[in-house]
Amino acid sequence: MTEAILLVGGKGTRLRPLTINTPKPMVPAAGVPFLTHQLARARAAGVEHIVLATSYLAEVFEPYFGDGSKLGLSIEYVTEEEPLGTGGAIRNVASRLRSAPEDPVLIFNGDILTGLDIQALVATHRSSGADVSLHLTRVEDPRAFGLVPTDPTGRVTAFLEKPQTPEEIVTDQINAGAYVFRRSVIDTIPAGRPVSVERETFPELLASGAHLQGMVDSTYWLDLGTPQAFVRGSADLVLGRAPSPAVPGRCGDRLIMETATVAPDAKLTGGTVIGPGAVIGAGARVTGSTVMANAVVEPGAVVTDSLIGAGARIGARTVLTGAVIGDGAEVGADNELRDGVRVWCDTTLPPASLRFSSDQ
Ligand code: GDD
Ligand code: MG
Repeated sequence: MTEAILLVGGKGTRLRPLTINTPKPMVPAAGVPFLTHQLARARAAGVEHIVLATSYLAEVFEPYFGDGSKLGLSIEYVTEEEPLGTGGAIRNVASRLRSAPEDPVLIFNGDILTGLDIQALVATHRSSGADVSLHLTRVEDPRAFGLVPTDPTGRVTAFLEKPQTPEEIVTDQINAGAYVFRRSVIDTIPAGRPVSVERETFPELLASGAHLQGMVDSTYWLDLGTPQAFVRGSADLVLGRAPSPAVPGRCGDRLIMETATVAPDAKLTGGTVIGPGAVIGAGARVTGSTVMANAVVEPGAVVTDSLIGAGARIGARTVLTGAVIGDGAEVGADNELRDGVRVWCDTTLPPASLRFSSDQ
């Protein structure tokens, strides 16, 4: 049986300022909690048993996913009293694993949207005989990631988490947050204290001569660390660019949840998602955006690459581009908000109070 550990705890699991009480893995992407996509992709790759390693607001996962049977999975939940870090979280769930010592165990960061061929990673792991195998991807700026140089055979030569100095940036290959561990390697991680797999476990394994194998796979990959990335990922799921068996309905230009109300002449494109109970007014144009549950976009508003939080209201003719509007916020009519702006939850912006273009 193939099994996997999903890491969904730690400090960065809340998506501020949008959904103060919802941990990031439960924020809807393409209509379902983001985690559903990772679970469904793992299942499609043959994974049957998943242990969710959680630390923050853990109680929201189990009521939704239960024993996992709706997804064809068997899911267990383990909650850390204090966050144990990535390595500590992995070690903390070791007793729940059913694999034999030599078996491969999959481990996924819980905030990644990817088209990774999971079976190919397991196959690479088996054929190379590695202790740990890592999915690597290439990015332009690796500073926010774990840098992973490899030799010509793909064997990992170093692991540099969040490199800072120019000398440290020796490759554009980064840790994409999906691993295969030989089960017995998990048991060597120290128990009962915080451990970073990136800063401690990987460098120590390399220093002791262990075999870490990298698999560069340049498929779709996105770290959902920012709300803007979340909007992009959700749109890519709807458009079918990011493959997931969990997208409700067929992929296309838009996804409109059942109880939403959309005016007949509103134009929804670019992977836009309209959440349950949301209302889109006449002549509004919404492109590549996520409109969360019960939000209102009034007539003539133009919304592009933006996130509109649950219950928020966007006034008539207001223009939003690359904006993040918190839950319950009200942006009055005839405003213009541009790239990077974040409107905090429950704030009110009066009509015609902000614009970027000329006054003509
Ligand atoms: N259970 C548990 N407990 N999970 C944790 C903890 C913890 O204490 N700390 C972090 N996690 C989970 C997070 O929820 C996330 O899914 C994953 O582990 C990675 O943690 P992040 O905090 O998101 O790390 P990062 O994004 O800065 O960097 C990681 O991901 C990059 C790729 O996106 C590292 O693995 C980098 O090396 C990698 O390049
Ligand atoms: Mg992350």
